[in-house]
Amino acid sequence: MSARLFSTASRQAARAAVARVATVSASRSISMAATRPAFKLSAPAVARTIKTISFNGKEDEIVHERADWPQEKLLDYFKNDTIALIGYGSQGYGQGLNMRDNGLNVIIGVRKDGASWKAAQEDGWVPGKNLFDVNEAIGKGTIIMNLLSDAAQSETWPQIKPLITKGKTLYFSHGFSPVFKDLTKVETPADVDVILVAPKGSGRTVRSLFKEGRGINSSYAVWNDVTGKADEKAVALAIAVGSGYVYQTTFEKEVRSDLYGERGCLMGGIHGMFLAQYEVLRERGHSPSEAFNETVEEATQSLYPLIGKYGMDYMYDACSTTARRGALDWSPKFKDALKPVFNELYDRVEDGSETQRSLEFNSQKDYRAKFEAELQDIRDLEIWRVGKEVRKLRPENN
Ligand SMILES: NC(=O)c1ccc[n+]([C@@H]2O[C@H](COP(=O)([O-])OP(=O)(O)OC[C@H]3O[C@@H](n4cnc5c(N)ncnc54)[C@H](OP(=O)(O)O)[C@@H]3O)[C@@H](O)[C@H]2O)c1
Repeated sequence: MSARLFSTASRQAARAAVARVATVSASRSISMAATRPAFKLSAPAVARTIKTISFNGKEDEIVHERADWPQEKLLDYFKNDTIALIGYGSQGYGQGLNMRDNGLNVIIGVRKDGASWKAAQEDGWVPGKNLFDVNEAIGKGTIIMNLLSDAAQSETWPQIKPLITKGKTLYFSHGFSPVFKDLTKVETPADVDVILVAPKGSGRTVRSLFKEGRGINSSYAVWNDVTGKADEKAVALAIAVGSGYVYQTTFEKEVRSDLYGERGCLMGGIHGMFLAQYEVLRERGHSPSEAFNETVEEATQSLYPLIGKYGMDYMYDACSTTARRGALDWSPKFKDALKPVFNELYDRVEDGSETQRSLEFNSQKDYRAKFEAELQDIRDLEIWRVGKEVRKLRPENN
């Protein structure tokens, strides 16, 4: 398809988008019920800031923004805490470094013979000072952030559970372990606060957005509230790890939406759609370059960023009338074809089948090698080999 980007129509659409943003901002501030206490450094950090926003004009959602938790307030709130972050994979890296940059007292707990021990040292964590083995870190921590891989959370739970003693707070970034406790065997202690902050993106992005002064969106939830402060603690931690805006959910809803989303539009579904479109183009005689550009390159380099920045309507508005007509006509057909697949996926997430599959695969001793073999199969697909060459031809890569 040809996209007449930045044409007269696009400029009109851009102006319209700006006008729309202004309207949305105005209505947002009208529908927002905010109780914003005047913050003083010396004030006890127990004051709550609650905002509700109705995104669809019907249901109120509780949201919090970084502006509600300035750094001074975070420092005051966590002044008596040692935050022990267990696991230093993708999320451990992003959340840990952001909290350290926010000035909080963070320590890392990882096994000494693993890759993470080395990675943490490379990022400036010092053995014996703020880098310990898992058990020692949990012993020192008041807030225990369990950022092991989900399979490892299940595997290590018998060792970790007795160390989560009364008075500590247990934190997850996914509802997986507690929600599917029949499968994971992660039965959380009844006498500690159990909370969740789930960044909506990779730990690498959690870090890079924070460094750019931006923030990833995260959800937060409470599983167990023994102190009456679990909700507030979750919000404070969400901001401390680098979130931009934070919305309230439950552990159950977080895990279902997350497993569903990553298998669907975020990763699995979009990859399936790329492959199907590319294969048909190639089978019908189109060149690799043409098939790749019409399937992936134009999407990621031109159109998807417009959706991200201004919305779907803007993207439609910014392309040719021919492209727009066809896309508008075909979109419902794709939706009707795919909706049963999405329902099947949601059912499998809800009944634990996807959890079972994930635990079984990722608990195998050789799961990394098996996963690497699957990645190699993807690398070897023509579409992604073509992609590698096409990326080299981008002027900025010359
Ligand atoms: N990645 C994401 O995009 C993302 C987004 C939102 C939420 N989350 C959630 O965040 C949590 C952490 O995910 P992640 O992606 O950061 O995990 P990850 O990158 O897979 O990190 C794995 C960590 O677990 C440790 N580990 C693995 N097996 C272990 C074992 N048997 N004993 C001790 N340590 C072990 C690894 O240490 P070694 O180096 O020693 O193996 C590593 O530090 C999960 O609950 C996940 O669902 C992830």
